[in-house]
Amino acid sequence: MENLIHIKDVRHAYQTETGPLPVLDGLEISVDEGGFVAVVGPSGCGKSTLTRLIAGLMRPDTGEVWLHGDIVKSPRATVGMAFQNPVLLEWRSILKNVTLPLEIVPTKLSKAEQEDRARYLLSLVGLEGFEDKRPSELSGGMRQRASLCRALVHQPEVLILDEPFGALDAFTREDLWQTMHKVKEKEPFTGVLITHDLRESIFLADQVVVLSGRPARTQYVLDVPQTGPRDLEHLYTPEAAEMLAILRHQIEIAQGRAPEGSPPPEDAGAPAEPAH
Ligand SMILES: Nc1ncnc2c1ncn2[C@@H]1O[C@H](COP(=O)(O)OP(=O)(O)OP(=O)(O)O)[C@@H](O)[C@H]1O
Ligand SMILES: [Mg+2]
Repeated sequence: MENLIHIKDVRHAYQTETGPLPVLDGLEISVDEGGFVAVVGPSGCGKSTLTRLIAGLMRPDTGEVWLHGDIVKSPRATVGMAFQNPVLLEWRSILKNVTLPLEIVPTKLSKAEQEDRARYLLSLVGLEGFEDKRPSELSGGMRQRASLCRALVHQPEVLILDEPFGALDAFTREDLWQTMHKVKEKEPFTGVLITHDLRESIFLADQVVVLSGRPARTQYVLDVPQTGPRDLEHLYTPEAAEMLAILRHQIEIAQGRAPEGSPPPEDAGAPAEPAH
């Protein structure tokens, strides 16, 4: 299988008033075509910076970001993004918010086809009947679903999700996890998910990358077996508990709260606690 995304020895520092702030320090991440990688790491370590580099909104100081065999130098139409706080335009209906990228990115679709695609995506995420509502008439979870449709409307090869479910309550978040599986099955994409929620990472991704504290490097990579947690009950199996214990321990190392190279706690197989 081909690497669709390859972050190759990426280093980056922001220039600030008090001098350079090194943020990424030799980052290495590869995502196979159709793969879904979750990136976790301490707050402020450089995760959103990484998403901006993949999206071509910034270029790294050194190293390369490869997308489908090309070095990313500018924003691409083949990348879709969704964020923690979906910015939907209040003066447009939900349907018109979803079709917005098609007004910006060149498309061969007619107006009617664009709307059909938006309607299809909205029904896929359970928002059938809400096409003509305004964003303020929707709940937070519904707005996030609409934002997901907008990110997918131009059939991007790559979907970047930067803590998309972070502001939602636990039940709504779990509902959206299941929606994500359904969406990925019907609308295949290569995914990069930034999250603080370790359960979310193993539920959605096939690989979890733990970044070190700032400046971030790739500290640990966990492969989630394809037989891994794909329905919510599976998050409470001993296998899931073990993965969560390993990840929690790696986060403690990244935060400087556990020594590097130390083993995870002995009770790694104990029932999982929610990560929050
Ligand atoms: N445009 C900028 N100019 C200067 N410093 C910046 C800029 N953007 C981010 N930073 C700094 O770079 C570091 C990494 O920021 P980034 O947003 O990538 O972290 P993050 O891992 O996404 O954090 P969080 O988990 O809190 O979302 C932070 O210390 C932040 O203050
Ligand atoms: Mg961030």
